[in-house]
Amino acid sequence: MSPKKFKLVVLVSGRGSNLQAIIDSIKKNDLQAEISLVISNVNHAYAMERAHEHGLEVFFLNPKSYPDRNSYENILIEEILSKSVDLVCLAGYMQILGKNFIDAFSGRIINIHPSLLPAFPGLNAQKRALEHGARFSGCTVHFVNEEVDGGPIISQAVVPIFDDDNEASLSERILEQEHIIYPEAIRLILEGKLTISGRRTIHNK
Ligand code: GRF
Repeated sequence: MSPKKFKLVVLVSGRGSNLQAIIDSIKKNDLQAEISLVISNVNHAYAMERAHEHGLEVFFLNPKSYPDRNSYENILIEEILSKSVDLVCLAGYMQILGKNFIDAFSGRIINIHPSLLPAFPGLNAQKRALEHGARFSGCTVHFVNEEVDGGPIISQAVVPIFDDDNEASLSERILEQEHIIYPEAIRLILEGKLTISGRRTIHNK
């Protein structure tokens, strides 16, 4: 019998290049995991196409079909629980998650953000790094708590910012690193190498 695979659900809203990086790592056997479900809150998001291409189960959940965030998130929770997943990965999921959702999967939700947190949480992180004249930026994988992009940091990668950078060039440089550190962070979790301690993540030997 093959060993039980670590089960992921990936939440997306757009292009899905981080979803692709996770899929590729699994295919290369760098990640001993499987994606049980991809959920999109945006219909026809390119990420959904990528998921279909790889034969993954995809579920579109339209927030506009629900009267409020709680009822939308209750369905989201039900769907995820039905797959008994080990980890919820936000990959460009453009919706803030409420307390109910976060409590339902406490310590088991991670996100990738295109800045060196705690600098530039929230939207347009690359643009704001440029506006501030930052000389370095990067990306961060972190556990998700109720603070927007504020949970315990798992890993980061740094990239330089050049004088002639614009938002597109900086975003591209950061994205390259995102695709490396996101699957690596998932691997650390599935290998049991991380413990959350208050604001911090401890990397066990
Ligand atoms: C990435 O820059 C990620 O850091 C941010 O949203 C973007 C998603 O890109 N949270 P993609 O959909 O994975 O290509």
